[in-house]
Amino acid sequence: MAIGILLVGGMGTRLKPLTNQTPKPMLPVGGLPVTERQLLAAKKAGINTVILATSYLSEIFTPYFGDGSKWGMKLLYAVEEVPLGTGGAIRNAAALIDFADSKEEFVIFNGDVLSGHDIAAQLAFHRANKADATLHLIEVADARAFGCVPTDANGRVLDFLEKMENPVTNAINAGCYIFNSSVISEIPAGKVVSIERETFPQLVKSARPVFGYSEQSYWLDIGTPAALFKGSRDIVGAGFLAGLGSKIGEGSLLTGGTSIGLGSRIGANCTITNSIIGDGVVIGDNCTIADSFLLHNSNVAADSEILGKYISPTENLPISL
Ligand code: GDD
Ligand code: MG
Repeated sequence: MAIGILLVGGMGTRLKPLTNQTPKPMLPVGGLPVTERQLLAAKKAGINTVILATSYLSEIFTPYFGDGSKWGMKLLYAVEEVPLGTGGAIRNAAALIDFADSKEEFVIFNGDVLSGHDIAAQLAFHRANKADATLHLIEVADARAFGCVPTDANGRVLDFLEKMENPVTNAINAGCYIFNSSVISEIPAGKVVSIERETFPQLVKSARPVFGYSEQSYWLDIGTPAALFKGSRDIVGAGFLAGLGSKIGEGSLLTGGTSIGLGSRIGANCTITNSIIGDGVVIGDNCTIADSFLLHNSNVAADSEILGKYISPTENLPISL
């Protein structure tokens, strides 16, 4: 069965300060890290072995996911001392297994995407076309921030244009692509390589069979604070969601898609809206909290007003959504 690679090594610059102590893919949406949601999606498609391509704050992943057995999966960790870019990360991750002779395809995931698309159907499409690479494509209203991917009537990719001012199509790289091992062998080892700016354009130029699998399902790149909060609200709905072992004091009102992680304690008579609260957070009585992110194990004193803030055990900084 295909092998997964999760690209989880970016700096998450656009999400600062939320990524000061947490790599972007480990930020919780609807109470679970984005990476965990991606692993569950991969498993549903029959992918049981996944390599995490880590770099920035790589040490945060292993204590949470371990060897993957809790999820019935096998997880391996590749660490880039210096970030190798998306292509270099893939090459470096695949080197953990004997990929050169592998008959298995690799399913690569950008680590900051929530997608409801059918990965098994994408894999079947890849095989039916005898493709070397197959990208999931999605149509967006404004393609400027993404990789633009024009295709012909059969879905064959005609070009790959990363982040352009005047997009030639609204179909974009949705951040989940399948590679045959031959494609990975061609990425130079130990070098910084961009899959978007180097590998994809080269594959297309040399007339290799690269296909686009179009499926318009739920899709979101959580790469900005506003997008992260939207992703969490989309999962929670209008009310709130609280993880196991959490306690909410009498008279407290939680709304606006607020999520609370495991074992957190909210005091009495608090009003909390549109906020992401991690595990083991303690909030005193009579607090008003809105549009805020409270990292795992942070504390909020009674009678506090927290509006548009990032709170960690050591930081208290403004955020704008
Ligand atoms: N291991 C590793 N090393 N991972 C990396 C590195 C690196 O050097 N650089 C980036 N990543 C990871 C990020 O953590 C993220 O999960 C993923 O690669 C994509 O990087 P982003 O920085 O989020 O890229 P983007 O959102 O601007 O654009 C990409 O995603 C779009 C879809 O959301 C491109 O792939 C676009 O073509 C695509 O449309
Ligand atoms: Mg992104």
